[in-house]
Amino acid sequence: MSCLVIQGGRHLTGRVRVSGRKNAAVAVLPAALLCEDENRFEDLPDIRDVRTFSEIMQAMGADIERDPQGLLRVRANGLSPSSVPQDLSKRLRASYYLLGVLLARFGYAEVPLPGGCSIGLRPIDQHIKGLRALGAEVELEHGVIKARARKLRGASIYLDVVSVGATINILLAATRAEGTTIIENAAKEPHVVDLATFLNTMGADVRGAGTDVIKVRGVEELHGCSHAIIPDEIEAATLMLAAAATGGDVVVENVIPKHLDPVSAKLREAGVHVEENGDWIRVKATGRPKAVNVKTLPYPGFPTDAQQPISALLAIADGTSFITETIWERRFKHVGELNRMGADIRVEGHTAIINGVPDLSGTEVRATDLRAGAALIIAGLMAKGETKVCDMEHVDRGYERIDEKLSALGACICRSEP
Ligand code: EPU
Repeated sequence: MSCLVIQGGRHLTGRVRVSGRKNAAVAVLPAALLCEDENRFEDLPDIRDVRTFSEIMQAMGADIERDPQGLLRVRANGLSPSSVPQDLSKRLRASYYLLGVLLARFGYAEVPLPGGCSIGLRPIDQHIKGLRALGAEVELEHGVIKARARKLRGASIYLDVVSVGATINILLAATRAEGTTIIENAAKEPHVVDLATFLNTMGADVRGAGTDVIKVRGVEELHGCSHAIIPDEIEAATLMLAAAATGGDVVVENVIPKHLDPVSAKLREAGVHVEENGDWIRVKATGRPKAVNVKTLPYPGFPTDAQQPISALLAIADGTSFITETIWERRFKHVGELNRMGADIRVEGHTAIINGVPDLSGTEVRATDLRAGAALIIAGLMAKGETKVCDMEHVDRGYERIDEKLSALGACICRSEP
C-alpha cells in the first residue's frame, strides 16, 4: 500500500490543469459498449477506476488502446456479455452500469454487486425498479444481479430518491428500448449531461439531461463517435481547497466555473478570494478562513464529494462550522484522522461540528476512502511537520497524478511505495 509523505506549511502557487471527470469517465466508458464501432475519448483520466473498468471491458472482449497523446479508443465488436469478471467488478461502483448497457445491447446481463467507497449502505433498488419498469426481469442470486429482457420497452419512471447511478443506468438501458422512456426526479449532475451528450453523438435521442425530467426515445442502433470528457469538478474543488488551506495563490485550469459555484460560494463566504474567467478559477488566500456552514445536496447543491475536503480546510477556520451530510450515512471516517492531527471535530448524527484550531500537526493517518484521502492530503499540506497519508490506493482510484500536480505547485510531497 503506497503512502504520501508531506512536509506541511508550503504555500501553493502556480497553475494546475484539472483532468477529465472520474464520474463521467466511468459512465461513458461502458456506454461505448452499446455499439460495435470504435469510440474515441479525449481527457479520459488515467486513474485506477478507469484502468479497472478498461480491464473489465477487455476481459469481456473489447479492444481498448490508449495512444501517447492520451486518446482512448474502444471497440466492442467481439463482446461476450456473459464474461463480466467478478473480482474486478467488485472493485468499483460504476461496474453496475454494465447492467443497463448489456440489457440494451444483448437483452441480458449478469453483474456482481458493485464495490466502491464504504460511505453508507448504497442500495440499488432504484436501478432495479427502473430496469424492471423497462420490462427486464431482475434477480439477485449469490451476490450477482441477473437481468433479462426479450425486448426493453419505454416506460415512465419516477425515482424515489435523486440517484446519479439509477438515472445513468436507466438512461443507458433506454437508449435502445422500443418507445419513449421518461425519467422523473432524475439526477441533474453535469456528468449525467456529459453522458447524454455522448449518447446523442452516438445517435441516441436523449432530451432534458440536466433537468429533473429526462426523455429518451429508443433507437434501433448506435454508432461510434469521438467525445471529450468534461473536467472533474471534484478534483478542481480539492485543488481550490488545498490552495485556500495553504494561504496560496493558484490558478486551476480546465474547469467549468458554473459547476463549481457551490464550492466557490463557500470559499468566498470563508473570506477567500475566488476569481473566475472562461475556463479557469483563481484562488488566493491569506490567514485563517472564517467558519462557514455546509449542507451537502444533489447538484446544484454543495457536492457530497467535496464535503470531506472542505472539512479539512474548516478544521483551521476561525470559529465553529457545521457540516451536514445528507447523501451518505457514513461519510465522516476522515474526522477521527483529522482529530489525530489536532483538529477538534465532533460528529453528531449527520452533522460534523468543527471547532476551528489555529493549526494542525503532522502525523501518520489513513485514507479510509477516496475523498477522506483528499481531505487528509489537504490537512497534511497545511499541517506543521510531516504527515504520512497511508492507503493511497483509495485516492489513486479517482485522482490523476495528485502528488505530481501538488509538487508542481510547490508542495513538498513524495510517494513511498511499500
Ligand atoms: N440511493 C438509493 N437507492 C438507489 C440508489 C441510490 O436509496 O437505488 C440513495 C443512496 O443511498 C444515496 C443517494 O440515493 O443516499 C444518492 O446516491 P447516488 O445513486 O446518487 O450515488 P451513486 O450513483 O452510487 C455517485 C458517485 C458518488 C457520489 C454520488 C452522489 C459514481 C461512480 N459515484 O454515486 O461519487 O458521491 O453519486 O453525487 O458516479 C466519489 O466520487 O467520491 C463518489 C462517492
